[in-house]
Amino acid sequence: MRVDYHSHILPFIDDGAQSVEESIAVLRQSRLQGVELILATPHFYIEDVQSVHKFLHIRKHAYKKLQAALSAESPDEVPQILLGAEVLLTPEIPYLEDLEKLCIEGTNLILLELPFQPWSEWVYRALFYIISERNLQPIIAHLDRYISINKNNLHYILSMEVYIQINADSICNYFLFRQIKKWYRDGIPLLIGSDVHNCTSRQTYFGKATKKILRAFGPDFFQRTENIGAILSEACKCKNKC
Ligand SMILES: [Fe+2]
Repeated sequence: MRVDYHSHILPFIDDGAQSVEESIAVLRQSRLQGVELILATPHFYIEDVQSVHKFLHIRKHAYKKLQAALSAESPDEVPQILLGAEVLLTPEIPYLEDLEKLCIEGTNLILLELPFQPWSEWVYRALFYIISERNLQPIIAHLDRYISINKNNLHYILSMEVYIQINADSICNYFLFRQIKKWYRDGIPLLIGSDVHNCTSRQTYFGKATKKILRAFGPDFFQRTENIGAILSEACKCKNKC
C-alpha cells in the first residue's frame, strides 16, 4: 500500500487546505499520484491550541465537514484517510496529558516536528522519554529540512529508535536527494510524505518522488518499511469496521 505519511489536507484547521473543495482537490491529486492511504497530520502547536482536548475537538469538526463532502465522491478517486497530527516538539510535549491521543489513529505512531534551530540536549532527552516512558513510536517529520541547520546533529536522531520521514519535494531536489540516497544506503528505512498543503504553492510531489525512488532503488525501498505499512493497514481495517 502506498502511504503518504505527512499532509495538511483537513480544511480550516491549519495553514493547509482552506476549504472543503481544496481538501478534495488535494485528495484527488494525491490519488492520481498513486497515494492509497494518506495520514492527515495538521499542525499541533501547544502554545496556540493549549490542550490536546481542544485540538481533537477542532480536528473532529474539520474531518466531519470533509467526510460529509466525500460521501458524494467515488471512493476510489481519493485515498483512505487516517487522522493524526504533526506535533511540534517542545520541552513540555513529553509530559503532555493525553499525548497518545495525537498518535495516528489506531496506532502508537506519533509524527514529531523538531525545532528549526540547532538542537540541544533536551531534544534527545525528550525523544527518549517519549519512546521509553510514554511507549510511543516517533516518526520524525521531514528530516531533510533540518540538514542545513543541524547537519552535525542528525546522527544522534538517526541512532535513536525512530522512523524517519522525508519530504517528496526534497527527493526531487538534486542536492537533498544526494543526502537521502546516503541515508538509504546506510540502511535507514525512510517514509515518504508529501507535506502537501494545497494544489498550488505547496502541492504534492508524491508521484514524481515515487518514480525517482523506484528508478534509483527499485521496490526494495518500500519493502523496507512494510512493517509500518502493515500496522497502518490494520488501523484502516479497524476504522472501517467501527
Ligand atoms: Fe507539515
